[in-house]
Amino acid sequence: MTDLSPADTAKNAAATAAVALVQDGMRLGLGTGSTAVFLVHRLAERVKAEGLKLRCASTSKATAELAESLGIRIETLDDIGWLDLTIDGADELDPDLNLIKGGGAALLREKIVARASDRMVVIADGGKVVEVLGAFKLPVEVIPFGWQTTQALIERVLADLELEGRPVVRRMQGEAPVLTDEGNYILDLALEAIPDAARLSVALNALPGVVENGLFLGICDLAIVGQPDGGVVELVVEEAVE
Ligand code: 5RP
Repeated sequence: MTDLSPADTAKNAAATAAVALVQDGMRLGLGTGSTAVFLVHRLAERVKAEGLKLRCASTSKATAELAESLGIRIETLDDIGWLDLTIDGADELDPDLNLIKGGGAALLREKIVARASDRMVVIADGGKVVEVLGAFKLPVEVIPFGWQTTQALIERVLADLELEGRPVVRRMQGEAPVLTDEGNYILDLALEAIPDAARLSVALNALPGVVENGLFLGICDLAIVGQPDGGVVELVVEEAVE
């Protein structure tokens, strides 16, 4: 592949390494975003070259359309039932492989698919690796009904968690609110740093108008971080020594 920017070289390297984990007969979850686009292309090449028989579920309509256009048949998650492996991008990942996802507004389907998988592998470039989650605005999917009330309740949760005054903004595209594949809104929480992600996640999801938040905690098993020179670094969670 020629003429890729350093960032795209890194994404493609991560995607290529992840696709090497795919084995004939696997049930796969396909992620969403610009890194996942490389994933789908590299996977389609292997399917074509090796005649792999796979069963694939998608985390978004966009990925499903791309996959189908490249000859990968997409089935519903419920038709497949359970997945061996999901490969997806991330907006941030910390040393424990906790993630922020949802930059592409697909966090709900992404979390459902990842949680229905034996293994989740994240593909990313080095810019996504952080010490503490939160510089990337945390996406929260909310239902349109009463969304401003939900926004106020989220602000109250943030105040309770000593994150008072952090902006909570509905994501827009031009003049219109961004709609998820489920027809919901995304509220982006500019938190700067998240001191207790587990507590925040539970508190957000306890609010009636919140459908899901973009914290993926304890879900990712392996991160493949692409490098601008085309190499990759693999990150796993260090086991605690007793
Ligand atoms: C979409 C996501 C993406 O995986 C995340 O935004 C990373 O995207 P990209 O690979 O384009 O940086 O969570 O909802």
